[in-house]
Amino acid sequence: MATQSFIDTDPARRAQLLHGAAVAAQIKLEATREVERLWKDHQVRPCLAAVRVGDDPASAVYVRNKIKASAEVGIRSEHHALTATTNSIELLDLIASLNDRDDVDGILVQLPLPAEIDADKIIEAVDPQKDVDGFHPLNVGRLALGRPAFAPCTPAGVIELLDRSGIPIAGAGACVVGRSQIVGRPMAQLLLQRDATVTVCHSRTRDLAAVTRAADLLIVAIGRPGFIGREHIKPGATVIDVGMNSVTDEAVARELFGADAEKRIEIISKRGYTLVGDVNPAEADAVAGRRTPVPGGVGLLTVAMLLRNTVKAAKLRRGME
Ligand code: GUN
Repeated sequence: MATQSFIDTDPARRAQLLHGAAVAAQIKLEATREVERLWKDHQVRPCLAAVRVGDDPASAVYVRNKIKASAEVGIRSEHHALTATTNSIELLDLIASLNDRDDVDGILVQLPLPAEIDADKIIEAVDPQKDVDGFHPLNVGRLALGRPAFAPCTPAGVIELLDRSGIPIAGAGACVVGRSQIVGRPMAQLLLQRDATVTVCHSRTRDLAAVTRAADLLIVAIGRPGFIGREHIKPGATVIDVGMNSVTDEAVARELFGADAEKRIEIISKRGYTLVGDVNPAEADAVAGRRTPVPGGVGLLTVAMLLRNTVKAAKLRRGME
């Protein structure tokens, strides 16, 4: 008897793309309405303080995007850009002053911090009520207990994307690849809270493909361009790519993007790099039911969820939520 192939070999088959932009726009519109209501009914205007240390160009772009998005929804913001020579004491002093200020609702410290600074100590110094990134141990613990908490923005955005795309979570087999504090661990907690059957994989997982191939929902955040291929994906699965890697090599782009390679090569020659996720898009397209593109997938949701958390912080501190 001929063995049946579980892989759709139709070269024209493409996974349906889940675009984060539309969902992010919806969340931002909801935040705008809530900001307007807070002003009209309570004369409250939420304020976000963003803190950045050093010259990491990617961090500078991320913080600029967060500040710009805040303005778009009517949230006031402050950008505290500190030099690379800033020490822990100076940074802790700034955080203490932001904690004390009644006009500051949310505080975010952009990671990574310079190696000389103990990031855990800095995160613990942020008032948990103003911890809009959801990184403080109190919020991490509350999330793990299934109690109300600020949830980290990227995994919370993934849940919104799944919900608003009509993809069921309860009862689904969900596999999270990566166990970072920012994405993997909180992603697993949020999925568990929503009654998924959750597996967490990492660099020491044996036979990774066998584990990931069992998942209906595959969420990947490992920082390795195009690592997840056809062999890792269950036919018809939903694949969420949280990776954000810069690729400068045209040959790599050609291998990863199949029919779309020329567009990417043009981007590399113009800009010097193209953004690539942790999932091989050409291979995922041949197997997955749905997948998020990079860029244009979950990246935009991180910022939208930060705005939502800032509005929530403003309300919580005033006993409105
Ligand atoms: N670095 C990478 N992602 C994040 C994030 O969501 N928040 C902060 N503060 N830093 C990051």
